[in-house]
Amino acid sequence: MNPKKWLFPTLLAMVVAVGTIAHPFNTFPGNAQSSVGKDELVMITSPDYPPYEFYNTAGGERKIVGFDVDIANTLARELGFKLKIQESDFNGLIPALQAGRADFVMAGMTPTPERKKNVDFSIVYYEAKDTIVSLKGSNLKTPADLKGKNVGVQLGTIQEQNAQAIAKKTPMQIKQLNKVPDIIQEIRAKRIEAAIVEDTVAQGFIQSNPDLEYVEIPSEEQSGSAIVFPKGSKLVEPFNKVLYKMKGSNELETLAKKWFSQNTTALDAQKATAAAPKKGGLNINFGRLSLDDYLFILKGIPTTLLFTLSSVFLGLIAATGLSLLKISRFKPLQWFANAYTSVFRGTPLLLQLSLIYYAIPQLFGFDITPLQAGVTTFTLNSGAYMSETIRAGIQAVDKGQSEASMSLGVPYAMMMKDVILPQALKNILPALVNETVSLLKDSSLVSTVGVVETLRASQIVGANKYIYFEPLLTAGLLYYLMVMGLTSAASTLERRLKRSE
Ligand code: ARG
Repeated sequence: MNPKKWLFPTLLAMVVAVGTIAHPFNTFPGNAQSSVGKDELVMITSPDYPPYEFYNTAGGERKIVGFDVDIANTLARELGFKLKIQESDFNGLIPALQAGRADFVMAGMTPTPERKKNVDFSIVYYEAKDTIVSLKGSNLKTPADLKGKNVGVQLGTIQEQNAQAIAKKTPMQIKQLNKVPDIIQEIRAKRIEAAIVEDTVAQGFIQSNPDLEYVEIPSEEQSGSAIVFPKGSKLVEPFNKVLYKMKGSNELETLAKKWFSQNTTALDAQKATAAAPKKGGLNINFGRLSLDDYLFILKGIPTTLLFTLSSVFLGLIAATGLSLLKISRFKPLQWFANAYTSVFRGTPLLLQLSLIYYAIPQLFGFDITPLQAGVTTFTLNSGAYMSETIRAGIQAVDKGQSEASMSLGVPYAMMMKDVILPQALKNILPALVNETVSLLKDSSLVSTVGVVETLRASQIVGANKYIYFEPLLTAGLLYYLMVMGLTSAASTLERRLKRSE
């Protein structure tokens, strides 16, 4: 027996398949690479920050809009570049610059001495102040009032630092959340009493949520937003030039008025649909979502399916290779396959995903798109699980089969391919379907690295409309329908195979 014969073609097939299947993913928004020297600039932002940057889901499109986006478009136009926009949670923005994933960040980011150690900043293009946001009538007016309270801040922001500074004098519990809309939701759910949020952002959320109020925190220090670049970027100077020009020509002020004045259209649209809690009864109403919102969520389905099917396909190839190693007589191959399985089964999938997504650019210097990272992780992980199933399936095939093949002089590879594996596959089909179903549901994990699939799409809609329940239930229903479709297809296949016995 010579499993090595199998190993090479299997690995080759995997590489080719990942290459071809992953290629079209590059066309998904948010999958660009840093591109100085080309005609396109990649900006990365955290679109949870209206009116600086947020998702406009009108028309079911996924489009990031806002003050920062308008400025970025002007900058790119003036400098003769096309602009591509990527997204990440706020605390992933600077790491993304360092990994070479983007040319600059615009996310209402404030220059601070610590950040300046790692990145370069443009001039400040907009000034801002911190505020305390709380439920109306809670009477939290100064930092001293926050004593003993639960206070929400966005992870990785200067608001988090400022809260920590306050907590040194006035003990309070700080709760760090990934997204600003989540913080606002936490206040309304009464899980936290207050939040520290920048003034213009607070103002927008208060307009949409009349049950909230905010007060400015007096401070001598000026903070504000600047554009962020990788250290030593050649873009800082030309960007500053255009920014000065925009300041001089009042273009910046006009944009600020457009986005920050009381009756901004975007904010009005959100206000109209903001969830006003009903008195009494079940507070649930699917009519609060527009047709566009539902379309937006539905558009996550192809991504979910593409992701699941390619991971299952590649995972199956990897698993077959691994299971052959496991039953090989050559010990080191067995050891390798077993060690591999134990590592991938012994660590959390989410951790593997973050490691692959963030570590590959750092270690090997080439960018990997969120979807490629997802498919790679899920292929490697499900390969480990399925290899056990396949190994058991192979070993369950009657010994007489392989003995007969061998005595007829059938070569190992041919015997495996034509005799053993087809029988094994038939027996383990239900187990493989199980694995596919879990993959389909676990695919929602790629939302954490910025892939807009079904779950993430529903979260975006929820964040825009300040409602949580209805979009999530919609996503839940869609997942359920996809799983149902999958299992019924599988049982048809199983029946066919039975009949052909
Ligand atoms: N200005 C603050 C900072 O630099 C908060 C920015 C948050 N931006 C966002 N897009 N969520 O830390």
